Amino acid sequence: MPIREIIKYPNPVLRQKAAPVTEFNEELKKLVSDMAETMYAAPGVGLAANQIGLAIQVVVIDISPKEEKNKLIPLINPEILEGEGAEVEEEGCLSVVDYAATVKRFAHIRVRACNLDGAQVEFEADGWFARVIQHEVDHLHGKLFIDHLSSLKKTLYKKKRRKQLLEEQAALDDKQD
Ligand code: NI
Repeated sequence: MPIREIIKYPNPVLRQKAAPVTEFNEELKKLVSDMAETMYAAPGVGLAANQIGLAIQVVVIDISPKEEKNKLIPLINPEILEGEGAEVEEEGCLSVVDYAATVKRFAHIRVRACNLDGAQVEFEADGWFARVIQHEVDHLHGKLFIDHLSSLKKTLYKKKRRKQLLEEQAALDDKQD
């Protein structure tokens, strides 16, 4: 199963609204398996399909401790039905390189999603698990955690990223000379 390339900010696919999945077939299972492999290799605790360049409503999550990493939760067409309470914690994202910041999220959420067979499930989540779900569902709406920051912080990150991309380009140009 191939590891997919993780798309980085500011690639526009990260801003696309993901379309719902309508067919629960082998292709979907294979996609979820590739996404899981990509997430574990990164390593990360969650990955949305936009992050591998596909704007469809598929998310994989595994927040179990590093040594275990065997509690894969695929969420297809996930929706946050309600949220309450608030918690502020530091977050990062595999698509937002070298950056972390504190983000306010619901402490408790109710979620509806489909499993790999297309059966609809509803469940509740708290704390870190609730945070990861909110972060991944944001991805499906074309939203990144930096969109939750103050405009000053976001501008600083954009500048940092621009500089980084220019440096990467310069390094590439040097190689080609
Ligand atoms: Ni992310």
